[in-house]
Formats: sequence, C-alpha cells, structure tokens
Amino acid sequence: MNILVAGGAGYVGSHTVRQLQKSGYKVVVYDSLVTGNAESVKDSELIVGDICDEVLLKKTLSKFNIDIVMHFAASSLVGESVEKPEKYYQNNVYGSLCLLRAMFAADVRKIVFSSSCAVYGKPSVKHIDESTPLAPANPYGFSKLAVERMLADFANAHGIGSISLRYFNAAGASHDGNIGECHHPETHLIPLVLQVALGQREKIFIFGDDWPTRDGTCIRDFVHVDDIADAHMKALRRVELGVTQAINLGSGDGFSVRQVIEACRKASGHPIPADVSGRRTGDPATLVAQNSLAKEILGWQPTHKGLSAIIASAWNWHSSNPLGFIEKKDP
Ligand code: UFG
Repeated sequence: MNILVAGGAGYVGSHTVRQLQKSGYKVVVYDSLVTGNAESVKDSELIVGDICDEVLLKKTLSKFNIDIVMHFAASSLVGESVEKPEKYYQNNVYGSLCLLRAMFAADVRKIVFSSSCAVYGKPSVKHIDESTPLAPANPYGFSKLAVERMLADFANAHGIGSISLRYFNAAGASHDGNIGECHHPETHLIPLVLQVALGQREKIFIFGDDWPTRDGTCIRDFVHVDDIADAHMKALRRVELGVTQAINLGSGDGFSVRQVIEACRKASGHPIPADVSGRRTGDPATLVAQNSLAKEILGWQPTHKGLSAIIASAWNWHSSNPLGFIEKKDP
C-alpha cells in the first residue's frame, strides 16, 4: 500500500514514517522543509512542495499511486497563531483544502489527519473526552477544528473517509536517538528544559505558579511520539473501512510543569535552575485526555507510561544531538 505523508519531515511525521517503513508500507514524504528537516527523511522519496500547491499535490498523488494520505503538514505554534492568524488560516485551513481537492481529483479517498486537543480550548473537566464541547481558544485550535469540519463535509459529499487524531502534548524521541524534537525557534517545555541541562540556556522560566492545580503550575498530558506514531498505524486500518471519526490521543495522566522539570533533573543529572515568570497568554490550567475511545476503536495503548520513560528518550536525543538536525546535515 502506498502512503503519502504530508509533513513527513516534521517531528511527529518523521517518527510515523519510520513505523510505516518498518511495517512495509511504501512511503512518499511531501514537505515544504520550512519547519521540517530533510535529514529526518531516510529511505523514502521526498517531494519538496508547499501544502497549498494543489497542482503538485495532485501530480504526486497520481504519480505514486497513493492509496491513503497522512496529513501532518501545519503551522503549530499557539502563540504565533494569535499574532499571525493569516498564516494559520492559509497553511492549515487553505492548505488542507488544497490537499483534499487534490485527493478528490486523484481519486484518493482516505486520510488520517493530525488534529489537536487545542480544539477543546480551556475546558474545566478533569479528563477531556470527545464529547467535551469544542471551543478553541486561539486561531491554531480554530484552524484544526475547521479542517475536522471540512473532513466531515467531504465525507458526506465525496465519500472521503478520515480519522482525526487529537494529540495532547507530543513528547520524547525515537529510541535509536536518530530523530527527535527540533524546532526553530523552540517553544516547547521539555526541549527547553533539556537545553538548560545542556548549558544552552541559563534557566527555565515557569509560566505561572498560581494556577488552580496541585503545585500551582500547569498540568499537561505528555504522550510519547512513538505511541502517537503507533496510533497512526492503527488509524490506517480503521480509515480503510471508510469511517469519519475524531479520536483523542493522550496518555490519560497529567503532570505539572514542576514535575517535568524534576524528571529532567533526574534524567540529565543537571540541577536545571528554574524561575517563575508570569502566565503565558492563552494557556489552559489543565489538559488531560480521556483516552478510552482510542483504546476501544483503535486497540491503542500508550506503551510509555509516566514521565521518566518519555523524558529519558528525549534526553537521549538532545544529549546526542545538542544542535538538533544542524549537525546531521551533509557537509
Ligand atoms: N511552559 C513553561 N515554560 C516554558 C515553556 C512552556 O512553563 O518555557 C509551560 C506552558 O505554560 C504549558 C506547559 O509548559 O503549561 C507546556 O507548554 P508547551 O509549549 O510545551 O505545550 P502546550 O501545552 O502549550 O502546547 C501543546 C501542543 C500544541 C497544542 C496545545 C494545546 O504543543 O500543539 O498543547 O493547548 F495546540
């Protein structure tokens, strides 16, 4: 079976490509390389193109006889989406429309889409399930919800089946240490904390310790990137049945920012100085998944339970590649 992975040179996309390859799928990666890294793509065709280039998308889908699309290509920084909403509606909403139109034209009728817990906004429930009201709090969340809506409408009108996977906080790295998280600029908690351990930053700033949580810092549900990749493999089998469905992907456990920093201290053996600064605009206090639908429908189970396994794999990647993909580039 031939799979087009849009955004396959990015963090979650590249880990999923590895699992697809191991399972024997023929993979074609389509990526603009604006935020993705060509160095993370091995043993697959790489087509460099924009997600809004409908002509190139259609040509690629037809040329490689694609059966199913996996769609990771998106801009994904919540803060930036507030400052530059036009970028998010262009890349995430219009880009997805271009991809769907190209799929329709090339007669490809199945897609697995990277959605986000950002579609729920700032819910007050302890565990978020798929019936929690959809109320995004920023343009990034709205852009993901708009694509989910588009997918439902394309299912009705054109018989395109889709699984939307609503990720909570993707974290960790592949166990071989060859690929991992690498953003420019980096804004995510775990890589930033580990950069302090590597001496690349002086300290980590905790964005508020006056939240209504057990230690006053925000709580998030960290799910290992290889577990997310595994869910995509299972979603492939499900989408082949032609269904349209949105499913949460989280571990079901919440950890506070302070717990993350402590776990990074243990993994790295570095003291990691931390200071408290003000709250970051748009942060919800707590985001933890209810993941029973993924277990029931996909037969998925997160295998990296707890923070220490996730952070150990992240530390393995960051400590062996302190400059990320930069030092992996060909001379
Ligand atoms: N944080 C800090 N200091 C930092 C960076 C982050 O205290 O220097 C805190 C944040 O305030 C937040 C937690 O660490 O409470 C996690 O922050 P991240 O930026 O790592 O991740 P987010 O929870 O903001 O973002 C994630 C996904 C997004 C998704 C969003 C939904 O990465 O794709 O959840 O709210 F949209």
